[in-house]
Amino acid sequence: MEDNVRQAKKVMLSGIQPSGDLQLGNYLGAIRNWVARTEEFDNYYFMADMHTITVRQTPADLRRRTLEQLAIYIASGLDPEKNTLFIQSHVHQHAELGWVLNCYTMFGELSRMTQFKDKSARHKENINGGLFTYPALMAADILLYQPDFVPVGEDQKQHVELCRNIVQRFNGIYGDVFKMPEPYIPKAGARVMCLTEPDSKMSKSLPDGCVFVMEKPEDIARKFKRAVTDSDTERCVRYDPANKPGVSNLMTIYAAVTGKSYDEIETEFAGLGYGAFKPAVGEAVIETLRPIREEASRLIQDKAYLEGVYRAGAEKASYVAEKTLRKVYKKVGFVQR
Ligand code: TRP
Repeated sequence: MEDNVRQAKKVMLSGIQPSGDLQLGNYLGAIRNWVARTEEFDNYYFMADMHTITVRQTPADLRRRTLEQLAIYIASGLDPEKNTLFIQSHVHQHAELGWVLNCYTMFGELSRMTQFKDKSARHKENINGGLFTYPALMAADILLYQPDFVPVGEDQKQHVELCRNIVQRFNGIYGDVFKMPEPYIPKAGARVMCLTEPDSKMSKSLPDGCVFVMEKPEDIARKFKRAVTDSDTERCVRYDPANKPGVSNLMTIYAAVTGKSYDEIETEFAGLGYGAFKPAVGEAVIETLRPIREEASRLIQDKAYLEGVYRAGAEKASYVAEKTLRKVYKKVGFVQR
């Protein structure tokens, strides 16, 4: 019975790299939406630690951030009983299918990936093979679970498109092995921009413009007070992303954490100017993140609990992943054990 119900649900999968501390953009743009979809879908969410080492990491930091990321997922309301939460490197099938898919991904395709071009420009001293073939591993992450939907941000759409090309190529040769996944761009997903450079996405690489989930309230308050607004003369709170990107971004954030509409926000701050608006956004964000930070801090101390979650998650994920991997190995001609 339980199994039938599970099968009827569409499958959803996504991952975040533990390459930096989780920030408001991850929470509002991804994790919060995952929580909302718990009941509707059969969900797989993972820490993409294998992707993270395409850029050099300090081992202790990677370990800490991976566990902290899991703690934040759970503290944000992602129920580990209802979602499969796991660490990518614990499910060996990712590396294995990743290798196979490398052989079905073209040099030319990989060369066109904008993330590869950006990252190799930023890390000139370490343009390694993994950085280049990363999309083949990402395709394996996805295809092992035969998901219907892959919720990703704008910057990952190209990788999901490449994954779709791989599916077409592979299925074209071997028959219907992989389900064709769709990128899933949520209707109401907030796209959070940098507080100091509102034309760029919020990112840890610009820390003054980035609010971290585990950050102290006073630091968050300071970042919002210093957020750039706009140099126009009207100095009023009005949603106009083209001409007022800074204020519009703050409105997006405020709307996302309070549930208010842009109209309501404009009315609320009519005649008050940016001096009142910026700290109000900061306060609202602080209150949204407070319970998550407190619960995540508690969970991080509870090593046994986290271990239980990631072990169970890896076991569930591995069971599903193995079925796909077996099928693939058979199709390409490997002798079965
Ligand atoms: N590449 C994604 C990022 O950098 C993370 C990721 C890895 C991912 N594998 C995935 C996302 C599979 C969705 C599905 O953000």
